[in-house]
Amino acid sequence: MEKIPFAPPRIDQAIIDEVTETLRSGWITTGPRTKQLEKEIAALTHSPAVLCLGSATAGMELALRWLGIREGDEVIVPAYTYCATANVVVHCGAKPVMVDVLRTDGTLDPGKVAAAITPHTKAIMPVDLGGMPAHYREIGDLIRNPAALKLFSPGSPEQEQLGRIALIADAAHSIGATYRRKPAAEWADATVFSFHAVKNLTTAEGGALCLNFPEPFDNEAIYKTLNRWSLHGQSKDALAKFGGNSWEYDVLEAGYKCNMPDVLAAIGLVEIRRYESDTLPKRRVQFDLYHNLLSGFSWAELPWFATAEKQSSCHLYLLRIRDISLEQRNAIIQRVFDAGVSVNVHYKPLPMLSVYREMGYSMKDYPVSCDFFEREISLPVFYDLSPAQQERVVQVLADAVQAETGASSGLPFHKTV
Ligand SMILES: Cc1ncc(COP(=O)(O)O)c(C=O)c1O
Repeated sequence: MEKIPFAPPRIDQAIIDEVTETLRSGWITTGPRTKQLEKEIAALTHSPAVLCLGSATAGMELALRWLGIREGDEVIVPAYTYCATANVVVHCGAKPVMVDVLRTDGTLDPGKVAAAITPHTKAIMPVDLGGMPAHYREIGDLIRNPAALKLFSPGSPEQEQLGRIALIADAAHSIGATYRRKPAAEWADATVFSFHAVKNLTTAEGGALCLNFPEPFDNEAIYKTLNRWSLHGQSKDALAKFGGNSWEYDVLEAGYKCNMPDVLAAIGLVEIRRYESDTLPKRRVQFDLYHNLLSGFSWAELPWFATAEKQSSCHLYLLRIRDISLEQRNAIIQRVFDAGVSVNVHYKPLPMLSVYREMGYSMKDYPVSCDFFEREISLPVFYDLSPAQQERVVQVLADAVQAETGASSGLPFHKTV
């Protein structure tokens, strides 16, 4: 029986050639390829400045630290996300204030965000779940409304200059997505993408921090500061120290170590050059096909990936099964695995994780996240997934749902694809 994996990376000859060339070039750590990738991400996302890093987690943490987020501060995050979104807030000593999500697309519920804003709120971190941008206009309106501006109490020179709650987008899933016809990165002060191995655009591990702070901020100057912070606060990076007699450097602050090496940027350069012309369209076709195959099943609650306002990057196909319990969902997943198809669950809500449960967060405060999680199954999506494999995924799933719930499993399979 052929096994269908969940999301293997696309490692083809083009990637192997570019990585090999980088290895042969003699320069494998941060250098020309990383800087070139930053330029190409800036062009794709219309960002004034982009810093490539070792992960999205590092990018989110640098952004929060640069804003001066610290103990006593609150940062609003969705309860329904990967742990990284809240962990970085904890790293800064601040409190993640978890807010429930919308039933429709699983992104932060702006109405509930409004109720969670206090004088301690310093930032909001929406998550573009599965590649679907959060509701940036509504959240942007909230942080700019007179009541929120009055409540805002800056705790650092950067917060003082911004004069309002910062919007830091966890866009780990959504490179290439659009919101109101613009790249989603244009709607937040800072936007962070992940290039982890399972992401639409990968560098094996990696991330990019896109800086888009409003005037009078100088995003290029912020870039320079954070670039230095990503390398221990050294006044010169390895490339600047290389060649000639330029070994001497200073350390201006006790920085971090989270730079992206060229050998990984090489993968990203191949990926980004085919992203809009090849990767994204392919994923959209795959999402459309799942939609067509599943739309005849009354048990299938299909994910939103294109609305009048938003175009998803089609990262995760977040299917929900109607009217099932957590136990039934888990049993369905087991059957699907037994039939050779890898599926996944995104996400176990943060309050269910030991670390956050022990801090006092409780699932009863997040009914939508709870319901989303209990009925969610993410289907395989990757470049080489064929239409025939997608049909098999859906057939296997339909059989599993029928076995667990008695629902019909036969409907749309005589349609031509
Ligand atoms: C929603 C979300 N945020 C942040 C991250 C962290 O990304 P990285 O692994 O690049 O740090 C992930 C990774 O899967 C994610 O899914």
